[in-house]
Amino acid sequence: MTTEEVYLHPEDYDLELADRDVHDLPFWISVMHAEKPRSVLEVGCGTGRLTVPLARDGANQRYLVSGIDPEQPMLERAMSRRSRLPADVRDALSLFQGDIRTVRLQTTFDVVLMPYGAAHHLLTLDDQLTAWRNARRHLREGGLFALDVDAPNMGVLHRLMKGTPRHRDLDAVIPSGRKLQRTVASRYSPSTQRAVHDYRYHATDPDGTQRCYTSTFEMHVYFPRELELLCLATGLRCERLLGSYEGAAFDDRSAQMILMARAC
Ligand SMILES: C[S@@+](CC[C@H](N)C(=O)[O-])C[C@H]1O[C@@H](n2cnc3c(N)ncnc32)[C@H](O)[C@@H]1O
Repeated sequence: MTTEEVYLHPEDYDLELADRDVHDLPFWISVMHAEKPRSVLEVGCGTGRLTVPLARDGANQRYLVSGIDPEQPMLERAMSRRSRLPADVRDALSLFQGDIRTVRLQTTFDVVLMPYGAAHHLLTLDDQLTAWRNARRHLREGGLFALDVDAPNMGVLHRLMKGTPRHRDLDAVIPSGRKLQRTVASRYSPSTQRAVHDYRYHATDPDGTQRCYTSTFEMHVYFPRELELLCLATGLRCERLLGSYEGAAFDDRSAQMILMARAC
């Protein structure tokens, strides 16, 4: 299964993320400090952007981190990062190939985390229910299921309904001389709650080698009540819905929806 072509180019994924101002890590670390878990599962761990610093924190705070991802190239990059870690951090981190809809790890966790929009990849109600149920199955009683997705912005979605013209949304260079440029054209269908972002990547290596490819990101657009209902249907209780990584409650201006739910 390949959800997005860019996941076959994990070095581009990391460069793209480095160019964005994503500041979710301190929030997730603070969640761990409040929860004091012994074990954490990160669903959709990708290249280990969050997984590795969480494992570093886990080595200090005495919790173990496991990460799953269906995409072999992303996971290989996470594994390579893991191999360069000090032994105590490496020992606190396990990585597996797996899809949250089907994976069966023979253990339960205190926290199951599905960060940075991984849940947008679950396109159908059946996918979502299956994923939520399986996350619940991997939680101990009272454990925390937490995820973040983009909040639905009606202004943006309205523009996307007409289809946005192709435009450049990324132009990044790293000190090694690697360049990554990207253009995107997007559209949104309200009847299916699906946004489709049609990306075109143009990567230039320091030796001048160029690679161009397209990567289509089909994302389910969640609405707040939907997150609550998915929890209600799968043995989870929505405890809090936050609207930012600073911990503000979700409101009309929030850019994110951060779901914190308990296994009950
Ligand atoms: C936006 S990336 C986030 C990666 C990483 N957590 C981060 O913060 O950089 C979403 C990840 O979810 C993974 N993913 C997509 N569908 C999935 C599924 N059904 N089960 C588990 N992971 C999935 C993708 O392969 C991708 O690595």
